[in-house]
Amino acid sequence: MEKKYKTKDYLASRIISYGKELESKEYDRVYYRTNEDLQELCRGVEIEGKDVYSVLASSDHIFNARYLKAKSVDAFDINRLTIYYFYLRLWTLKYKNELYPNILGHNHRWLGELLKQVKPKNEMEQIALTHFKKHYITDTNFSNLFFLLDSQPTGYTCFQTPEDLRDCLSPELDFQRIDLFEEQEVKKDYDVIFISNILDRSRKDLNKTTTAAENLSQMTRKDGVVLCSNLIFRRMEDLEREREIFSPYFEKEQKGHSYVYHRK
Ligand SMILES: C[S@@+](CC[C@H](N)C(=O)[O-])C[C@H]1O[C@@H](n2cnc3c(N)ncnc32)[C@H](O)[C@@H]1O
Repeated sequence: MEKKYKTKDYLASRIISYGKELESKEYDRVYYRTNEDLQELCRGVEIEGKDVYSVLASSDHIFNARYLKAKSVDAFDINRLTIYYFYLRLWTLKYKNELYPNILGHNHRWLGELLKQVKPKNEMEQIALTHFKKHYITDTNFSNLFFLLDSQPTGYTCFQTPEDLRDCLSPELDFQRIDLFEEQEVKKDYDVIFISNILDRSRKDLNKTTTAAENLSQMTRKDGVVLCSNLIFRRMEDLEREREIFSPYFEKEQKGHSYVYHRK
């Protein structure tokens, strides 16, 4: 990670913790846990032994793919703060044997005890540790840093307990900060890509849908799949237009509240 980001990321998250919004697309609140049904999304999809690329978000998609024995799991997100949360999730699992961090009730003692135990194994883990130590020292109120679940659909993961993730705690994660709606220089392709409900956000600008389809067509191997959720109400005609834009590269399969694009 470039040096300038270490301070910038901390300052941005500090501003968000005061309940303010930043204009930069690079920073936002982070999803505390998934609001998608990952069990439904993954049903019938072969993940074991596959190369997976996933939105990072709450990290639930990453742990879910690791739990389903993906060969490799790389991550992307438009929000730079998601990679920090990945490490907080990892430490929570590793040192506290809990699935989600106990930080929303301004519980600084819990965080202080956790951070004391962390022994970073790579540069990004060290950066994340310094980041959360600064938050600890400055007594950040974490509640504003997260999208909470009260007003969201309930999410489901394939793993149920911290023990399920015992073999999924590698601190190595190849993370790229990208905007799926901007043209990407694609260097690697994948068997399975999780894009959550990102396409919901392009429904008012079909140029964004087109760019996302082009990016995904390069990122997905032949016969690979892109797994999508539909959480915001979209009209049938919006979904049909999206399908048409994807149709030169993908066949669509509906799956309850989710859908899959199969690479042709
Ligand atoms: C679409 S959101 C919704 C939460 C999601 N349903 C879940 O269960 O985690 C998931 C993630 O997508 C990221 N995201 C949104 N728009 C994006 C874009 N254009 N490119 C890359 N990531 C994006 C957000 O930063 C967020 O972390």
